Amino acid sequence: QRRVILDCDPGHDDAISMILAHANDKIKIEAVTTVAGNVEVDKTTLNARRVCDIIGLDVPVAQGSNRPMVRETQIAESIHGDSGLDGPNLPDVPNTPVVEQHAVDLIIEKVMASDGDITLVPTGPLTNIAMAMVKEPKIVPKIQEIVLMGGGTFGNWTPAAEFNIWVDAEAAKVVYESGVPIAMFGLDVTHEAQATDETIDRFAAIDNPVSEFVVELLRFFKKTYKEVFGFDGAPIHDACTVAYLIDPSIFDTVDVRVDIETKGEFAYGMTCVDLLAVTDREPNVKFARDLNQEKFWGLLSDALATYS
Ligand code: BDR
Ligand code: CA
Repeated sequence: QRRVILDCDPGHDDAISMILAHANDKIKIEAVTTVAGNVEVDKTTLNARRVCDIIGLDVPVAQGSNRPMVRETQIAESIHGDSGLDGPNLPDVPNTPVVEQHAVDLIIEKVMASDGDITLVPTGPLTNIAMAMVKEPKIVPKIQEIVLMGGGTFGNWTPAAEFNIWVDAEAAKVVYESGVPIAMFGLDVTHEAQATDETIDRFAAIDNPVSEFVVELLRFFKKTYKEVFGFDGAPIHDACTVAYLIDPSIFDTVDVRVDIETKGEFAYGMTCVDLLAVTDREPNVKFARDLNQEKFWGLLSDALATYS
């Protein structure tokens, strides 16, 4: 079993990532920590708790950073709606509590108490992870791996930058330069994970409360992706991270050097992916380039079918 901390900003695809992780025996969720990203952190925390309620996930949920390390808060309401999880009916007041500890301290505590076997799975801006590394540098050599959604060789928030990295590029720089092994699921691969009408019908046929929740999430997400980007499907970006931890053979990866642009006039938040090895810097990232459609959607369907 891989012990993971899901650090997220739910978020439609963050929610699906939680659902996939909770359904699979290969993953042991140690905690869910939240960060400002798709919406403000009080909303992402509420949403994380709501998802825990819906899927029966009983782990500590800790609220984290409400703003990036250096810049002002930026959110993605146009994609995820006012609540951050628009579409399905959500419990107003979730039963799942939020722990008192700050997410950054919970991450530090869990990693320090581990035998170096905790993997961090960030699917929002990297603020909490970077803050934890800055606050307690002793965690850095103890983190087994960071499996993250962010970046890519093109952008979705600016032509150069993907949203999660663009929100807090200074945090991303800290994380990418930390020396912790990173597996990176950027837009190059996550745009391959597009849920189409056919996918949604397949999930609807599973017909249980969790699959129904996912169907409603995807209907909304697909609509905003059509409006904003003209896509015919909704990319389930964040779930690629968990899918990789369950079955790495789904993805084609390459070891590359990736550096984060924090100063550019047009390219703030760009992940500079050295695919042709034009620098002679050591690779710091396993960069995912492609996925096996059949295996990916099969994994998600199987996960949904485990709920009743
Ligand atoms: C990323 O940004 C958010 O909108 C999604 O949840 C995903 O983590 C995609 O750019
Ligand atoms: Ca996210």
